[in-house]
Amino acid sequence: MSGNSALKVKINGKAYEAEKDEYILEVCRRNCIPVPTLCHHDSLSGLGACRLCVVEVNEGNGNKVVVSCVYPLNRDCEVFTDSEKIKGIRKTILSMLRTRAPEGDLLAALCQMYGVAEEKRFTVSRPEKGVTESPAAKRLSAACILCGRCALACSSLGTGAISTMGRGTIKKVSTPYDEASADCIGCGSCAEVCPTKAIEYRETKGQRSIWGRDFKILSCTACGKDFATEEEYTFARKKAARETAGETLPSVLCETCRRRKSSDVFAAAFGERI
Ligand code: SF4
Ligand code: FES
Repeated sequence: MSGNSALKVKINGKAYEAEKDEYILEVCRRNCIPVPTLCHHDSLSGLGACRLCVVEVNEGNGNKVVVSCVYPLNRDCEVFTDSEKIKGIRKTILSMLRTRAPEGDLLAALCQMYGVAEEKRFTVSRPEKGVTESPAAKRLSAACILCGRCALACSSLGTGAISTMGRGTIKKVSTPYDEASADCIGCGSCAEVCPTKAIEYRETKGQRSIWGRDFKILSCTACGKDFATEEEYTFARKKAARETAGETLPSVLCETCRRRKSSDVFAAAFGERI
């Protein structure tokens, strides 16, 4: 990178360049400097929820700790991604997250990487004994770090079927009133973006079950491959304004076949190729 707007950024003692307003995490990623993240997703920016990506930055007025995925650079500076102070903060964050989500494999790996002690330093309230939870709800409560990625993915699509609700120790991700939501299209984007694989869904031939609802999966009329739920397909087509009111759906084509036949409906609907 070069040009008039380039900032000089020293990271862990080595010189790099960055664009004005570029996030520290972006600069690190571009230069293959490892910074651990959980809630950050390239297509769903701005969450800044897990705090795991903290780094130290000195912009001329002393070191301060910032959240690198949402910290834009606007002057020359020095960044430390792995100082003793940062490692200590990450250990504390990981210990808290593991208390909240003891079943997350990714979290377990990070805890091991940062040498987080096994003993619990924090506690979190769980559903009262006697309250029956479904296996999916149990998994969610044991692996969700409340990063908000799933809810943001859902609202970004325009469905808004799930959201974070409640506060403090009873905060959770769910559908309204914990009931099957008519707004859910069964696309599985929430489960796909979840960093801890906390959202369970079952898929058997021709059917997907998620968030307490069963969805029929459509097969491509050209190649026969299962590719989307009926609701997902209809939603994408409507969103892409490719369907007129009352028109019955024409041939149901999977992604590959549709690409062959015409321009990509999903790309128009979701703003990116999937
Ligand atoms: S279910 Fe997954 S994506 Fe959603 S808030 Fe929990 S950890 Fe984040
Ligand atoms: S990755 Fe930056 S706050 Fe979660």
